[in-house]
Amino acid sequence: MSPRTKQLPRHVAIIMDGNGRWAQMRHLPRTLGHREGVLRVKEIVQAASEIGIEVVTLFAFSTENWSRPALEVSTLMRLLQVYLGREISALSRRNIKVRFIGRRDQLPRSVIRTIERAEEKTKGNTGLTLVLAVNYGSRQEILDGVRAMMSDCARGALAPGEVTEKTFGSYLYTAGLPDPDLLIRTSGEQRISNFMLWQLSYAELYFPEKYWPDFRKQDFLEAIEVYGKRCRRFGGIGKKA
Ligand code: IPE
Ligand code: IPE
Ligand code: MG
Repeated sequence: MSPRTKQLPRHVAIIMDGNGRWAQMRHLPRTLGHREGVLRVKEIVQAASEIGIEVVTLFAFSTENWSRPALEVSTLMRLLQVYLGREISALSRRNIKVRFIGRRDQLPRSVIRTIERAEEKTKGNTGLTLVLAVNYGSRQEILDGVRAMMSDCARGALAPGEVTEKTFGSYLYTAGLPDPDLLIRTSGEQRISNFMLWQLSYAELYFPEKYWPDFRKQDFLEAIEVYGKRCRRFGGIGKKA
């Protein structure tokens, strides 16, 4: 294995931010920014799959995004459905497995059905795992996990002393996935916005200035390159120079 390949992140998480500002800069409605953003989703997912990344998580809609104008929320839901409807065969052909994280119950029925179909159709695939975070909030995820764990304790299936980091991780929506090695947030904002608070503990953070609709394959490859040069120490003193 070349040193370059050794440094490839297993899991890249992306907060796709800046669609609205991209559109506003062009005097277009914000929703057109989201439409353009979908094209970048296709491009970046393909790039990640080509270079052999195991997992890509895309933050598509947060639990806080419901506070946006109704038209914007419904456009985002529609775009998600159209993207999945159109792309599911192509994703499946490329051996990509699709998984969703987030609270499903508050989503429109039609979106839930599309999500379930996508997961079902791609469940046997062994290439890139594409995780779409929809109606996702990390504090909610942690609370849901704590509730499930407490109810297992109450019925005697789990003892409090048995709860390790690994046990807790298995109660989160991301159960079974490796933690993200690299977090990319586009648009220059440098915050986490309630995204994967537990899982990002030791992720490398990368904040490109470009808005998501301007973030191309080349920019993604550059992020991977930058990650390759980072020195991760995990509290230790790192490799000898
Ligand atoms: C990210 O772009 C897309 C979603 C949050 C769904 P924004 O819509 O947040 O764009 P800005 O941050 O307003 O520019
Ligand atoms: C985070 O972006 C959510 C997604 C990208 C889906 P926001 O644009 O909603 O985050 P804030 O409000 O700027 O923190
Ligand atoms: Mg934003």
